[in-house]
Amino acid sequence: MIYTAAYPPLKAHANQLKTQHLADLFKAEPNRFEAFSTAIEGLLFDYSKQKIDSQALDGLIKLAEERDLSEWIQKLFAGEAINHTESRAAGHTRLRDVNNPSPDVSKQWDRMANIVSQVHQKQLRGYSGKPITEVVNIGVGGSDLGPLMVTHALDKDRHPQAPGIHFVSTLDAQQLQKLLNKLNPETTLFIIASKSFATIDTLSLADTAKAWIQQYAKSESATLRHFIGISTNAAKMAEWGILPDYQLLFWDWVGGRFSLWSAIGLSIALAQGMAGYKSMLAGAQAMDQHFKETPFSKNIPVLMGLIGIWNTNFLELAAQAILPYDSRLKYFASYLEQLEMESNGKSTRRDGTKVTYRTNPILWGEVGPNAQHAFYQLLHQGTERVMSDFILFSQGVSTSKRATFHHQLNVANCLAQSRALMIGQASDDLNKHYPGDQVSSTLLLETLDAHHLGMLIALYEHKVFVQSVIWNINPFDQWGVELGKKLASEIMQDIKSGSTDHLDSSTAGILKAVLAHSTGVSDEN
Ligand code: F6P
Repeated sequence: MIYTAAYPPLKAHANQLKTQHLADLFKAEPNRFEAFSTAIEGLLFDYSKQKIDSQALDGLIKLAEERDLSEWIQKLFAGEAINHTESRAAGHTRLRDVNNPSPDVSKQWDRMANIVSQVHQKQLRGYSGKPITEVVNIGVGGSDLGPLMVTHALDKDRHPQAPGIHFVSTLDAQQLQKLLNKLNPETTLFIIASKSFATIDTLSLADTAKAWIQQYAKSESATLRHFIGISTNAAKMAEWGILPDYQLLFWDWVGGRFSLWSAIGLSIALAQGMAGYKSMLAGAQAMDQHFKETPFSKNIPVLMGLIGIWNTNFLELAAQAILPYDSRLKYFASYLEQLEMESNGKSTRRDGTKVTYRTNPILWGEVGPNAQHAFYQLLHQGTERVMSDFILFSQGVSTSKRATFHHQLNVANCLAQSRALMIGQASDDLNKHYPGDQVSSTLLLETLDAHHLGMLIALYEHKVFVQSVIWNINPFDQWGVELGKKLASEIMQDIKSGSTDHLDSSTAGILKAVLAHSTGVSDEN
C-alpha cells in the first residue's frame, strides 16, 4: 500500500508545494524542461508543467522501490499469476514478441494472416459466391474499443486491398440496423469478437446479424460462411455455429482490455495488412523493452504512473483529462476510459482489505481542439483541479501547404492551452481572471503510424500497471461489472412477466411506466 516510509515526507512536501503556483516554479527554475522531460526514440514526455520538483521525484521513486515495483515488473513479464483473483497471468506483452513469438501465438498469427490474405485477394466468398468486401466487428469493451480506436487512427495507412471495416457495439441494435440498411448481405462478413463468447450485448447482436444473413442465404451452412468468431472459448463458438476454419482463439491470460494484441485485432490486420498490424505490435514491444530495462528516473511509464500517484494521492486531484491534438485519435479517450477505469477503479487491496486512499481518478477526454470549445472553460476557470495529458504529433498528415498550415494551427493551440492552463492570467475583473496552476504533461510523438500508436498504447498500459502496484490493487480483474449484468437478466424476466413487486419503488415505478407505454411486438423481425 501507499503508506511506506517514503509517504510521510512526500506528503509534507506536497503540502508545501501545493501552495506554490506552477508559474512560480518556472520562474524559480527556468530550465524545468531539461530537468523534467525525457525522450526515447520517437517519443518525448514533458512533465515540467506538473507541480513536481526533484525532491518529490526522488521521494516517488523511493515509494516505487518500497512497493517493490521492479519485482512486480519482472512478475508481469515472467507470466506469473498476478491476476490473483482469477488465478491468471496477464500475458498481453507475450503477444507482441514479434521476433520470437511462442508457438501458440505464432499459430494464431498464421490463421489471422490466412483470413486477411483471403479477404484481400477476394478469395473469401459469401453465400452467393461473391467476394467479401465489407467487415463488421461485433463486440463490446475490449472486444471493440481497441480495434475501433486503432483502425480509426490509422485509416490513412489502410492496406490498398482492405475491405470496409465497421464496428457495432450498442445493445439497442440501432448501429447494427443502420449498417444493415446499407450493406449487401452477399458481400458482408461479421466478426463476432468476445473473449467469453457469453456477453449478451454481443451475442444478441450476432443473432440479429445471423437472422439478417439467413433470410437471404436460406441455408444454415451458407449463412455461417459470413461469421468469424474470436474467443477464448472454442466450445461456445462452435455451439453458436462458428465453423472450425472461421474460429480464431486467444487465451484467458489476455485481459479483455488488453486483447487488441491478440486475434481480437483481426479488424486492425484486415485494415492495415499483417505488416501494419505487426508494426503496431513491434511499437508496443519497443515500449515493453523500455519499461523493463530503463531506470525509474528515465522510465516513461514509471514516471507517468508516479506523477499520476503524486497528483491523486498527494495533491488530491480527482480528475484526469486526455487531450489528443489529432482527430485521428478520436476514440483514444474512450479506449483509455476502459483501460484505466476498469483496471484501477478498485477499492480492495491485494490482501483483501479495503483501500484507505484514492485510486483511479475519473478519466475522460476529447480531441483537444473540439474540447477547447466544450469543456476547457471548466479547466480554465472552474473549481476542479484537473490533471491533463496533451498528446501531439510532430508530423502532420501531409506536407501539402494547407495540411501544413492546419498542423501548425493545431500545434499552436496545443501549446497555447497547456501554457494557458499553467500560467493563467490575472485580472481585477474576476470574470476575466484565469487562475492557471492546472497541471499537465505533454506526449510528443514523431508521427501517427502503427509503430508509434503501438508505443503509445503500451505506454498507458504500463502506466496503469505501475499505479496498480503502488495502490496494491489487482488491475486485471473487473468484478464490479458483474452485478449489473445479473440484475439486468433478472429485470428481463420481470419485463416478460410484468411483475415488479419485489423491486425497489424507483425501479418498479420506471418499469411500470415503460410497460404502460410500450408498443408491443409486431410481426417484422
Ligand atoms: O463487462 C465488462 C467486460 O467483461 C470487459 O472487461 C470486456 O472487455 C467486455 O465486457 C467484453 O467481454 P467479452 O469480450 O467477453 O464479450
